[in-house]
Amino acid sequence: MRTGVLASGRGSNLQMFIDLAQKGELPIELVAVGSDQAGAQALARARSAGIPVRVFTPADYPSPHTREESLLTWLQERQVELLLLAGYMRILGERFVQGADFPILNIHPSLLPAFPGLHAQRQALDYGVKVSGCTVHFVDEGLDSGPIIAQEAVPVLPQDTEETLSARILTVEHRLYPEAVRLLASGQLERSGRRVAERKSGS
Ligand code: GRF
Repeated sequence: MRTGVLASGRGSNLQMFIDLAQKGELPIELVAVGSDQAGAQALARARSAGIPVRVFTPADYPSPHTREESLLTWLQERQVELLLLAGYMRILGERFVQGADFPILNIHPSLLPAFPGLHAQRQALDYGVKVSGCTVHFVDEGLDSGPIIAQEAVPVLPQDTEETLSARILTVEHRLYPEAVRLLASGQLERSGRRVAERKSGS
């Protein structure tokens, strides 16, 4: 499955996808990595893996819409069949989401619908929840609001800081995100996020 990734920062999820694809443990071929941040570590990781990268710097475009048009055109030229958001710090506009002829997935470091948006781990600590986790979901026009595909919980410990909680969640992210991609690639996911019901033989 020809796969694109959008990332704005560190790129540990991207690296996990690079490693699994290289080992043949996930049926994806990474064909495009896009970013809004020219200095993103994710871009360096993609370049070292020989994946075509492109930066879409907001200041270079007259509007968010024209920027997203260029991004979509590039992904279509790369014949992307699946787009993975991995620490991409921008909300994709309605025209991008509706214009994309491929599914778009995102991973978010909370148990949605709790704590959408920025600093989800800090929001969880501030609220005082005892359990948090991560969510893989389809991307729609809203903020972390599309149909949920997979979730996994982690405990929030009394002595946790934003860093320790983020690290605990990140370990789970690196396992949950590829599981969701595997489900999608094997045709076992409906657009609602539900698993396709098994067909009875002969039907
Ligand atoms: C992850 O915590 C992910 O859930 C969130 O942004 C972070 C990205 O981390 N959307 P990385 O850049 O993949 O290391």
